[in-house]
Amino acid sequence: MMLSVFPVLLSLVTAYVSARIPDGRLHANMPPMPLMPFEPVSNSVTHAKTGASMPPLNTTYYFDQLVDHTNPSLGTFKQRYWMDWEYYEPGGPILMFTPGENNAENYTMYLTNGSIFGMIAQQEKGATVLFEHRFFGFSNPYPDLSVASLKYLTIQQAIDDLAYFAETVKLPMPGGDNVIPDKAPWVLLGGSYSGALPSFVKVNKPDVFWAGYASSAVVQSIVDFWEYFDSVRRFMPQNCSADVQAVVQHFDQVFTSGNQSAITALKDAYGMKDVSHLDDVAGALRNNLWDWQKLSPLSGPGSLFFQFCDALEVKDGKNAPASGWGVEHAVNAWGTYFKNTYMNLLCGDVDVATCIGTYNASASVYTDTAVNNAARSWQWIVCNEMGFFQDAAPAGMPSIVSQLIQPVASDMACSLLCHAFASPPVPNVQKTNEAYHGWDVKVDRLFFANGKRDPWRGATVSADSHTVASTPSQPIVVSDGFHFSELRAAAGDVDPTIKNVQTQALSYMHTWMEEWRNIQGGK
Ligand SMILES: *[C@@H]1O[C@H](CO)[C@@H](O)[C@H](O)[C@H]1NC(C)=O
Ligand SMILES: *[C@@H]1O[C@H](CO)[C@@H](O)[C@H](O)[C@H]1NC(C)=O
Ligand SMILES: *[C@@H]1O[C@H](CO)[C@@H](O)[C@H](O)[C@H]1NC(C)=O
Ligand SMILES: *[C@@H]1O[C@H](CO)[C@@H](O)[C@H](O)[C@H]1NC(C)=O
Ligand SMILES: *[C@@H]1O[C@H](CO)[C@@H](O)[C@H](O)[C@H]1NC(C)=O
Ligand SMILES: *[C@@H]1O[C@H](CO)[C@@H](O)[C@H](O)[C@H]1NC(C)=O
Repeated sequence: MMLSVFPVLLSLVTAYVSARIPDGRLHANMPPMPLMPFEPVSNSVTHAKTGASMPPLNTTYYFDQLVDHTNPSLGTFKQRYWMDWEYYEPGGPILMFTPGENNAENYTMYLTNGSIFGMIAQQEKGATVLFEHRFFGFSNPYPDLSVASLKYLTIQQAIDDLAYFAETVKLPMPGGDNVIPDKAPWVLLGGSYSGALPSFVKVNKPDVFWAGYASSAVVQSIVDFWEYFDSVRRFMPQNCSADVQAVVQHFDQVFTSGNQSAITALKDAYGMKDVSHLDDVAGALRNNLWDWQKLSPLSGPGSLFFQFCDALEVKDGKNAPASGWGVEHAVNAWGTYFKNTYMNLLCGDVDVATCIGTYNASASVYTDTAVNNAARSWQWIVCNEMGFFQDAAPAGMPSIVSQLIQPVASDMACSLLCHAFASPPVPNVQKTNEAYHGWDVKVDRLFFANGKRDPWRGATVSADSHTVASTPSQPIVVSDGFHFSELRAAAGDVDPTIKNVQTQALSYMHTWMEEWRNIQGGK
């Protein structure tokens, strides 16, 4: 409805961000970025103890960051951050986090006790700092995201940014010039990739941050990350899972049959007759399943993922049994939903071939180097250092993703982008895991929070394929939640297993801050 009121504005916006699909991704055949959810928050804050008024939360501060930590002669760039000291009292901790792979300006809610980060600050009388990761938003060493500039986007430079900030910053709050890590306990927090950073930093720079909080932290880099969808398969409603497997098998059968009329009919039934490459067509079906990643205990039964399952499993007002309705009904029902309802949500005004096709090397997805393009910067990180191709289960195993979707070789979007990036044909995950210890991390005072139904769990310390012990200095607490479900304070009110994670986090952080005070007192 809004759209028809502002047709002129909308067309201008559309022309500017030419091939951008509605959810902000570069492309419907690239995995969505695992972004911490955010909500608007009031910008007016007063100090909890003194009642003094403070600058609005959305006040942006700038830090002079080194472009290259291995070569300071390249100079500095302005790195953005935001902060909140409404709970701060002298002696309290400095809690720092980055939302990682996104423009950080909308994450100010995490400064407040609307999130577990702010709850910790409130309990421990700490200050919170929201820090924009280099090459995201408007924290860029150079004015573009060309390959020459992106050379300075590495996990190590990001780690060095965090450490250099903590060690040299004069925070814009009363007493903020006297809180470097010698004087105050610093805590690094985050979720998903940014949740892995506390783990990586504790391994790489053990003396800077006293404690860490790693939510759904993808500590282990993995190229062929088929476990992602396998975990969706196992936790989604059984009838829906059974039917999705049947449909995907049907696609594989038809698409490898050589029967052109059958192939065309199937593409057309899903609204994808203009998409020429069959792996793109089959790959696009992942979108309904990627919606699982957006679930949280706070999302209701009407969320997009469940709308999709209802479209397949509710027939004449009746739910399918656990075995589903079978391939015939499911192929038609999914096609109708995909073509008539979902395509518009997925592609918006972008034409279907551009939205879903990955083979056009001159498409803007590969050539646009403007800054504030989180998807491009994130793709650079995964192409070079982390992998995480979300593809079919190994042949012969149950799979909700087509066998046409295999890592690297047929993941055209990434291989083309990786090619444009001139990065190695396969991300060097071995180097990443050696440098930052992946699943084998063993450090002091690092809290891991995971969710049973998180599709990323296979890359966390709660992976099924790898057992990591929970210890008092490195506790691992798992809820029934999804991806970083416990970050929002309100999630604890609707799910007691999330509440448990939050309560334990608060308790461990309190113990660790006491430890700091005891050591300081003994000095
Ligand atoms: C901060 O938010 C207020 C509204 O709460 C808005 O008026 C103001 O322009 C914002 N300031 C910045 C720097 O974004
Ligand atoms: C932040 O939120 C505002 C309001 O919803 C939106 O207009 C803006 O595009 C968002 N910024 C980013 C970088 O997502
Ligand atoms: C946040 O702080 C306010 C004010 O002290 C308090 O009323 C509220 O319960 C707190 N929320 C949480 C989740 O702790
Ligand atoms: C090709 O598929 C069409 C439509 O499904 C079917 O009618 C036809 O029999 C098939 N042709 C062959 C040679 O299998
Ligand atoms: C079957 O599908 C319906 C509709 O999506 C869902 O509510 C129900 O939980 C599913 N039942 C099983 C056993 O998977
Ligand atoms: C490839 O993308 C370019 C740039 O957007 C466009 O001009 C061209 O028509 C596209 N080619 C095809 C075959 O779609």
